[in-house]
Amino acid sequence: MMSSRLAGTALCRPLSHVPLPHGPALRPTADMITSSLLHRCPAAPAPPQTASLWPPRFSLPRCASTLSAPAQASEEEKAAKKAGTAGKVPQGEGSAQQEAVVSYWGVSPSRLVKDDGSEWRWTCFKPWETYQADLSIDLQKHHAPTTFLDKLALRTVKALRWPTDIFFQRRYACRAMMLETVAAVPGMVGGVLLHLKSLRRFEHSGGWIKALLEEAENERMHLMTFMEVAQPRWYERALVLAVQGVFFNAYFLGYLLSPKFAHRVVGYLEEEAIHSYTEFLKDIDRGAIEDLPAPAIALDYWRLPQGSTLRDVVMVIRADEAHHRDVNHFASDIHYQGLELKTTPAPLGYH
Ligand SMILES: [Fe+2]
Ligand SMILES: [Fe+2]
Repeated sequence: MMSSRLAGTALCRPLSHVPLPHGPALRPTADMITSSLLHRCPAAPAPPQTASLWPPRFSLPRCASTLSAPAQASEEEKAAKKAGTAGKVPQGEGSAQQEAVVSYWGVSPSRLVKDDGSEWRWTCFKPWETYQADLSIDLQKHHAPTTFLDKLALRTVKALRWPTDIFFQRRYACRAMMLETVAAVPGMVGGVLLHLKSLRRFEHSGGWIKALLEEAENERMHLMTFMEVAQPRWYERALVLAVQGVFFNAYFLGYLLSPKFAHRVVGYLEEEAIHSYTEFLKDIDRGAIEDLPAPAIALDYWRLPQGSTLRDVVMVIRADEAHHRDVNHFASDIHYQGLELKTTPAPLGYH
């Protein structure tokens, strides 16, 4: 049986050998979100210290659950006292606590708590941004290309798939992580360009700026989640740097020239992403990839129940990709019908 360590061989530094403790999952209700907004943490316990992105990490992943934070924090406090560094609060993502900043400006971000009184520990997303993925979405939908531009878009995506198939083969954990670094670009580029257009033309956007930025953020959360499972090596980071430089500029130019083509390309990219995650699931089911416990960030972001595993995470991410597919094909269709995006209300929160 090939473990996820093997699944990420050569290209990724997997963390599958590290136990991924996680505690009770967040199941926020409307009341909870409201109460979260209203509550502040008077004396929240210090969370575990987290790793920085660079230089390459050798420390534990950020997988401790929100509820396990107090126990771990007390251990850290003891260690800090021993080391004479007491008073320094660990800093980093997954930790709602940071070093106190003395400032004249009086800006102090609210601290949020869950229903159980434990501190909301993520600074990259808030309780009201979490959601339950719609797993009932049709994964088989495909936009049949009829026009020249559609065929070009499909062939472009198929051409892009070819080198990634050769490069990653069936290392789906690594493949997913690396491709998410690209997938989070189009939404941001489209959002920025629509934002500038709105300013230039003194007009509303129909909500599409926010919808595309939401997509970019959702894709980035996929990356943040996969980072808990596998870590890139230095040359993979270099590859991402190069690919991002090329892809960002190419997509920027493509969106300026033809938004309907750009959205169609993303629609087809998402169809490929669904295929990749389906293969990922097959490898988990046949034991080629170890079905690790879901990282805490995934439990909170997708409101997954405690005991969820990597398989559950891949399921919700695949559902997200299906939603992105629909949104982008829809956006392209709007252009094809001679309309502008602003004329059709954007599907906000559709991911
Ligand atoms: Fe994604
Ligand atoms: Fe996507």
